Amino acid sequence: MATSLSKTGSGVQARGAIAGTGRTSWQDGTVFVLPDAVAAMAARGPQWQAWVDRLPAIVAGQLRDWSLTPDGVPSHGFCSVVLPVRADDGSAAVLKVAFPDDESEHEHLALRRWGGAGAVRLLRADPHRRAMLLERLHERNLNELWDIEACEVVAGLYARIHVAALPQLRPLAGFIREWTAELRKLPRSAAVPRRLVEQAISLGTDLAEDPACGGTLIHGDLHYENVLAADREPWLVIDPKPMSGDPHYEIAPMLFNRFDELEGYVREGVRRRFHTMVDAAGFDADRARAWVIVRMMHDAMWELTENDVPDAHHLTTCVAIAKAVQD
Ligand SMILES: Nc1ncnc2c1ncn2[C@@H]1O[C@H](COP(=O)(O)OP(=O)(O)O)[C@@H](O)[C@H]1O
Ligand SMILES: [Mg+2]
Repeated sequence: MATSLSKTGSGVQARGAIAGTGRTSWQDGTVFVLPDAVAAMAARGPQWQAWVDRLPAIVAGQLRDWSLTPDGVPSHGFCSVVLPVRADDGSAAVLKVAFPDDESEHEHLALRRWGGAGAVRLLRADPHRRAMLLERLHERNLNELWDIEACEVVAGLYARIHVAALPQLRPLAGFIREWTAELRKLPRSAAVPRRLVEQAISLGTDLAEDPACGGTLIHGDLHYENVLAADREPWLVIDPKPMSGDPHYEIAPMLFNRFDELEGYVREGVRRRFHTMVDAAGFDADRARAWVIVRMMHDAMWELTENDVPDAHHLTTCVAIAKAVQD
């Protein structure tokens, strides 16, 4: 259910299988094999197909230009391939090459701005190719913690990464205006409670006009799998889809990821995560609640409008979360 602009960001992730297509080899005999799941991204459309076709050459070019040696099995996210490498001084790093969409355009700027404080350190970037050399972190992510403990970790990281936005970043308010306009066009008969749709239109309109909707560098897609274990700090953030926004926007992905774990106590489970994060981050609860409702209704709208057969489970999740934070 991950989408472009991660719209709400859900990053379904998996480790890369080594068998597959897209083989390429270098002078020293090293073979890079595109993970099957990355090769399969070609089915998403012509632009993805073109990117997947180019990917082996991009990876080969970066390895050559940055004097890197492959050092392990490639993994991937929803829209990237990540290859463990060694730099020529022997240090461990990863080469990340992302699909060239708006979301990945400013990733390197956010990472550079953070300078390794609370986030993975950016070692080099080639924005044109959407390639980045990053310090290598561990495989472990926040999925391995109890969800409430993970919420505390993430809320603690907010204070480190929510610094003044860079001028190049896209304003969250612009996206919210656009998505609120789309929400207005949703037919009254759509398979989501009208009350929630109306509420999200009203809240989104107010939030987008509020000066506090912008000015802060926000991650945009901060969920359990985008926080990796590290040596120099226990946990570090990866994979920003940065915008100039409002810190309170960040909470929703921590509620809808690992949602199925809350079966049988959805309302209590969602509320416990929400209040843990609001308290630990020192957020305004009403403002955080408003963003959760808005984000969940945008997510429901994309499910309804972008799929021939909307996923009923995803819709139910969106509605359950939007209700749970306010009932
Ligand atoms: N610095 C890193 N060190 C080790 N593994 C990484 C690093 N960055 C990313 N990965 C691995 O690659 C996966 C995808 O990377 P991510 O930046 O989340 O890309 P996406 O935007 O596609 O979700 C991560 O889930 C993780 O397994
Ligand atoms: Mg990710």
